[in-house]
Amino acid sequence: MTTFASQPAPTRALALDSLAVHAGRDDLATLGVHALPIDLSSTNPLPGVEAGGLSYESMATGGHPTEGGNVYARLWNPTVARFEAGLAVLEHAEDAVAFASGMAAITATIVAARTEHGGSHVVAVRPLYGGTDHLLASGLLGVETTFCTSAQVAESVRPDTCLVLLETPGNPTLELVDIAAVVAAAGGRPVVVDNTFATPVLQNPLAHGATMALHSATKYLGGHGDAVGGVVATDETWAAALRRVRAVTGGILHPLGAYLLHRGLATLPLRVRAQQASAEKVAGWLTSHPAVTAVHYPGLPEADPAGLVGRQMRGPGAMLAFRLAGGFEQAARVAERLQLFTHAVSLGGVDSLVQHPAALTHRPVAPEARPSADLLRLSIGLEDAEDLQDDLARALT
Ligand SMILES: Cc1ncc(COP(=O)(O)O)c(C=O)c1O
Repeated sequence: MTTFASQPAPTRALALDSLAVHAGRDDLATLGVHALPIDLSSTNPLPGVEAGGLSYESMATGGHPTEGGNVYARLWNPTVARFEAGLAVLEHAEDAVAFASGMAAITATIVAARTEHGGSHVVAVRPLYGGTDHLLASGLLGVETTFCTSAQVAESVRPDTCLVLLETPGNPTLELVDIAAVVAAAGGRPVVVDNTFATPVLQNPLAHGATMALHSATKYLGGHGDAVGGVVATDETWAAALRRVRAVTGGILHPLGAYLLHRGLATLPLRVRAQQASAEKVAGWLTSHPAVTAVHYPGLPEADPAGLVGRQMRGPGAMLAFRLAGGFEQAARVAERLQLFTHAVSLGGVDSLVQHPAALTHRPVAPEARPSADLLRLSIGLEDAEDLQDDLARALT
């Protein structure tokens, strides 16, 4: 956790915008550098056999390096550790553990839940990112999964349930889930919330009782579409379990990615708020377009009957989805005709993206849970909102 030990004690807690700029950079002044240093060493000189061995053992069992040093980059990397410290501060968590991708983070979370909590049953609240849904449905990790709605969590958990997993807002239809209600229904079992869409700017799942807040850091945290990564913010005990899985299975984030993702944190609050302001405009504009039959956006009253925006989320975010009267054909045509929106999967970057979830990100999802074929998902970037609306107007005509 960032202590800002070299700074005078603040008279009040720092605001999110200040933390985003400074978190995870405590040691830079001591190192005599201003920008985040990138340590690309795959291996490290050992001070001695015994000291090196003890440090190795500490990290291979989920701990930190000791006097024997970092030993090997699959176990520990200082550039990655700085990004983790920064993200932990923004999520108000004791610790965070970073992975090579969001899916690597989800995989490690499931493996850690099996070993730490025990049991091989997962309860997963749909909708979920198609890759997560696919991983769980495939049984690849040796877990059996019950997919359910948030209201069905209490009846879905079993004595052998090791993890309850949810996304809010959910990908791709932006359903909101009451985290505290699911935590209560989970009855003491670990709950992981995929916080990718909300980001720590708009939502801190741990404050609502979740055990872990997980991110595809590829999205808003990096924010520029040039780094793939994942990260889980949690308490020290779960972080040690995740580090152990990471050390043994080898899913650590690359230091170049860690550098880019950490740099992204500094502008995260600004980006998210600006992108959200445009998303609110675009969502409102789409609701009155004759070719659009439905708009899914947490900022629209019908999308949030439980009043979670304001209570659980600090804003509705910058992701939205909409359905077209002309079905799949029109959705495909619009995706291909948009010019300012890039037709591409992924989300959360400075530039706007459009994609067709049923054909792409959610293609592997079981037919009964797959998004409808007339649905397009938009990730609103930093372009001017009217320019985005003009682009949509052209493509919808
Ligand atoms: C909500 C959500 N979670 C997890 C992932 C997986 O992350 P990654 O692509 O970094 O493995 C994605 C990817 O799109 C996502 O949208």
